Amino acid sequence: MRVPLASIGLRDRDIESAIEVLRSGNLTMGAKVAKFEEMMADYLEVKHFVMVNSGSSANLAMVEALLRPTKRRPFLNPGDGVLVPAIAWPTTIWPLIQLNLKPYFVDVSIESIGMDLTKSQELIDNSKGAIKALFPIHPLGNGLDSKTLNAFADVNNLVLINDVCESLGSWDQEGHVGTAGMAGSFSFYFSHHITTMEGGGIATNDSLLADDLRSIRSHGWSRDRSDAQEWSRDLTNNDSRFLFVSTGYNIRPMEIQAAIGISQIQDIDVFIAKRRSHAMEVNALLTGTGLRLIGGETLKDSTNKRRHSWMMLPILIENGFKYSRREIIAILEKAGIETRPVLTGNFLNQPSMKRITSEFFGSADLKVSDTLTDSAFLIGNHHEFTRDQIDCILKALQEVLA
Ligand SMILES: Cc1ncc(COP(=O)(O)O)c(C=O)c1O
Repeated sequence: MRVPLASIGLRDRDIESAIEVLRSGNLTMGAKVAKFEEMMADYLEVKHFVMVNSGSSANLAMVEALLRPTKRRPFLNPGDGVLVPAIAWPTTIWPLIQLNLKPYFVDVSIESIGMDLTKSQELIDNSKGAIKALFPIHPLGNGLDSKTLNAFADVNNLVLINDVCESLGSWDQEGHVGTAGMAGSFSFYFSHHITTMEGGGIATNDSLLADDLRSIRSHGWSRDRSDAQEWSRDLTNNDSRFLFVSTGYNIRPMEIQAAIGISQIQDIDVFIAKRRSHAMEVNALLTGTGLRLIGGETLKDSTNKRRHSWMMLPILIENGFKYSRREIIAILEKAGIETRPVLTGNFLNQPSMKRITSEFFGSADLKVSDTLTDSAFLIGNHHEFTRDQIDCILKALQEVLA
């Protein structure tokens, strides 16, 4: 038996819809992408969803849009500080470095793996006004509280953008997490809650930002914007189809990805219910044992006011447990269960970060991030896991606990 970190997630009907696109001859961004964007905006209850070719591209486009808006003053300027968690994903951090912003790393909370706002406040207070934006990651389906994040950003006069790539389908009393603030990025890579194979997008209620994102994803041209006509009104020599109004990349999605997305998003609640039921079984087994399912306490909430969407199963080895992380992982991997670090572990310890140390700042105290690096790990929690695969996880964990 093998329990991988993720399954492919494509069902027959998803594959059929992809084949239909291939046969239609309409391959590059078009009606399917527009339809999927509409469905995502409805699902997330936001005004706009702009699809791109990955969650990483969504982060890149979001940051670019804040630096060089077409119709407003920049929200960020080169050299500005952006607060990010030390347990991060590379492509949350790289757009900042690539676009001449400064990531300020802060520790995370052991309960949620999300940015610690008390330590964030200390860092802001010590940074003499250098920090201008907040870029939290909503980790592994365990969304950070929207109201708290919004209030924090307001009090400190920060632009709030969210990396929600791991937490589609997670909500709190304010709505879907990561949709507060300027924008939130999502990923549809195949281990995530829905898949478009590769794919991602940005949710926002800001119409000007959405238009800029539509230009940025497509060379900087105007033709996909809601205000395209306005830009071409006074044209004499230029062809309105080739009017470039902003900086840009080519990070467009393809129709085939959107067709799969249209088919997948309709079943997201079924997928999340499966993931949650796996988490409940693992949590019941681990409670009180010295191994802890991080986020397990959210399963007690029966009010449905908050939903954890359980991308993976993060397990913390509490102090004094009889086995080390290495020993536990050896037992699990021997039983066929694939494991991995919590995101990247403390991202500052990655060789790439060590090579560019002069480029970043942050708090000296990253104790919790180090603890999660040394004493926690992830196992998969895909909604396609079979009963046998879940039993295999439970049996191997029982062996660790015995
Ligand atoms: C927090 C976070 N941000 C961004 C990404 C990038 O998403 P993608 O793989 O779609 O580029 C990931 C990838 O899983 C992620 O975990």
